[in-house]
Amino acid sequence: MAGTVPVNIDGAQAMLAGEGYVAGRGLSTVVFLALKLGRPLFLEGEAGVGKTEIAKALAKGLGRRLIRLQCYEGLDASSAVYEWNFPAQMVAIRTAEASGGMDRQGLTEELFSSDYLIRRPLLEAMEPHAEGPPVLLIDELDRTDEPFEAFLLEALSDFQVTIPELGTIRAPEPPIVILTSNRTREVHDALKRRCLYHWVDYPDFDRELAILRARAPEAGETLSRQVVAFVQQLRSEDLFKRPGVAETIDWAKCLVALDAIALSPQVIADTLGALLKYQDDIARLQGSEAKRVLDAAEAALAG
Ligand SMILES: Nc1ncnc2c1ncn2[C@@H]1O[C@H](COP(=O)(O)OP(=O)(O)OP(=O)(O)O)[C@@H](O)[C@H]1O
Ligand SMILES: [Mg+2]
Repeated sequence: MAGTVPVNIDGAQAMLAGEGYVAGRGLSTVVFLALKLGRPLFLEGEAGVGKTEIAKALAKGLGRRLIRLQCYEGLDASSAVYEWNFPAQMVAIRTAEASGGMDRQGLTEELFSSDYLIRRPLLEAMEPHAEGPPVLLIDELDRTDEPFEAFLLEALSDFQVTIPELGTIRAPEPPIVILTSNRTREVHDALKRRCLYHWVDYPDFDRELAILRARAPEAGETLSRQVVAFVQQLRSEDLFKRPGVAETIDWAKCLVALDAIALSPQVIADTLGALLKYQDDIARLQGSEAKRVLDAAEAALAG
């Protein structure tokens, strides 16, 4: 039932499944523990394996708000927490000057009141929410730099934010924090230590088939099994960039759009762009290679 906090690992797994997210035992366990112990959850893994989606499914399943802080190079505290609305403040000053009515003290108080505050994700996550603590997704943390990480470490340890002009805002209950990383660089140990950790791996055949059933049910059972077997086989090849689950889903949808009912070397060659995003990888699969991978996939399906 939406809005109920799971009481055990099975409950966590069922809640995610209810939102179309297929989680294995390991992931369900850390999700349950993160909720139970109120610890941030740090998720690492390759691109497109479902890291971001976990936070979305969790927020939906719990009936909470999802607040997302998308990280990027150069992200600083003011873009993450709050900023003063400078243009609006300027307008207010001009208006006050023109009317000549307001005293200096009153104007300052007015300009630094919450009306002129722009709330960024971390501040929003610390404010009270009627439905309960929100899910705070800090996405792609590896894209930021170390100073921001240090700042985050502090924000996550006491769940409060101080705005000099307004005072300290403390979360009534800590938000549920999910951090993700594609591991383009190692995140600092100090931050990791605060969190529960889980490596989100490529799913095995059965789990990927279950994901496809949930996310692309329009692809029939036969095609879905072939697609998953092929992608699984492809991941064992020497590629520059292996396809993620997102690509599997995309590819299945493309095949359905082309009315393909089964894989053939031709249809594979025509649709490889849904699966592989580097020309070198696509070139490797031209000609007899696609057929070889397909044969291997079919042998695995039969065996
Ligand atoms: N276990 C799963 N159950 C259901 N859907 C999944 C699962 N794993 C991945 N997906 C689907 O795959 C797609 C990609 O997932 P998502 O965006 O969460 O990946 P990501 O790991 O955050 O990738 P990136 O590192 O590129 O941001 C989504 O559409 C999601 O629905
Ligand atoms: Mg993501």
